[in-house]
Amino acid sequence: RGIQHVNEKGHLTIGGVDTVDLVKQYGSPLYVYDVQHIRNQAKAFQSAFSKYPSLTWHVAYASKAFSSIAMVQLANELGLSLDVVSGGELFTAIKAGFPAKNIQFHGNNKTIDELDYALNVNIGTIIIDNFYEIECLEYLCKERQKPVNILLRITPGVEAHTHDYIMTGQEDSKFGFSLVNGAAEEAVKQVMNSAYLQLRGLHCHIGSQIFDTEGFKLAIKNIYNYLSEWKKELDFSCEVLNVGGGFGIKYNNDDQPLPISTYIDAIVTTVMAESDAHQMPIPEIWVEPGRVIVGEAGTTLYKLGSYKTIPGIRKYVSVDGGMADNLRPALYQAKYEAVLANKANAKDTEVVTIAGKCCESGDILIHDAKIPKSESGDILAVLCTGAYGYSMANHYNRLPKPAVVFVENGESKLVIQRETYEDLVRFDCSYSQEPTH
Ligand code: LLP
Repeated sequence: RGIQHVNEKGHLTIGGVDTVDLVKQYGSPLYVYDVQHIRNQAKAFQSAFSKYPSLTWHVAYASKAFSSIAMVQLANELGLSLDVVSGGELFTAIKAGFPAKNIQFHGNNKTIDELDYALNVNIGTIIIDNFYEIECLEYLCKERQKPVNILLRITPGVEAHTHDYIMTGQEDSKFGFSLVNGAAEEAVKQVMNSAYLQLRGLHCHIGSQIFDTEGFKLAIKNIYNYLSEWKKELDFSCEVLNVGGGFGIKYNNDDQPLPISTYIDAIVTTVMAESDAHQMPIPEIWVEPGRVIVGEAGTTLYKLGSYKTIPGIRKYVSVDGGMADNLRPALYQAKYEAVLANKANAKDTEVVTIAGKCCESGDILIHDAKIPKSESGDILAVLCTGAYGYSMANHYNRLPKPAVVFVENGESKLVIQRETYEDLVRFDCSYSQEPTH
């Protein structure tokens, strides 16, 4: 990755800050974000779209990848819109001062309370997922005599190259209205008849960690076949086409993502060609990347602890975190790379298994990691943990969640505090009559 640097002490630095000093100052495990990298990723989308001056476009950061007040503020500073998928993510955004008009609300089961909250803060767009949501939102809007901008999420029937667990665009999906079975058309009809739901266009999301442009092109072409029918039959014109997120990143050498501009060029040229072919005006194009904005920017720093060598089989090296702060290896067999942060230049390497500290055999962060010979107390940096790391962190084994710092220009800033043991029992209520200690 371009973001790796080693200083004269042989220590890994991120954003000009020595990672060994970061662990001294903030403890471990520690999530570290290279802010410059996040800026670069946002800019890459913006300059890719700027090549098409006649086009209206929006890039929304999918905050499920990593949501915190500081991150949402940074997204706003970078001129990104925001995609939220729950009342909690929306609350974070509002607390952070993110302009509600630039927020899009997703989800396959938004509760009435969540929808109510979104309307109260004057959210920019609600992306309706299903018929129940049409009903709920219609009711809520009618009650307050207030319209809301919506997109309809459709499943375009396209499978993107990705891991099974994270496929969301194919026909058999819990998300969205199916194009092929007529559900999408029925939804368009229903909302076109609504006085409150202002249908601006369609949304689709074909998957995550995508390495080619084929899926996007197919999805767009498929959508246009229906759009041209709906134009004739329903007089529906699609002002906004949101093609979702899913742009891949390089966790390791097996991953070959395309440059951001290649995805955007393919999306824009396909939309333009299809609009032309079907004699429709070119819609606004929206994208909502999460992983590619924050994934490679994030690194997790751990301290190495215990060692176990099984002669002739393997050597386990355990870190002071694991599946509680990075669920992806256990959940998706996701592969990561690591460097020994305090001996980054050491040449004498060995192959070890990096284990987490959770009480579960599957808590292995990296199988067969090639790192310099290490000892207890050394610092291990697991790379590319910025997306779906902190956001999927959990309290398994009552491990407190690690702190998060932003680094840039040689300076670090704490953006999420480390949890304490007290935090872990904060919401526990006593059962025994005896006073607790
Ligand atoms: N838009 C929608 C509607 C989505 O469902 C997602 C991700 C995104 C945008 C952002 O996708 P991205 O650009 O980050 O690939 N926890 C999994 C990933 C789940 C993705 C869910 N949806 C993981 O750790 O790989």
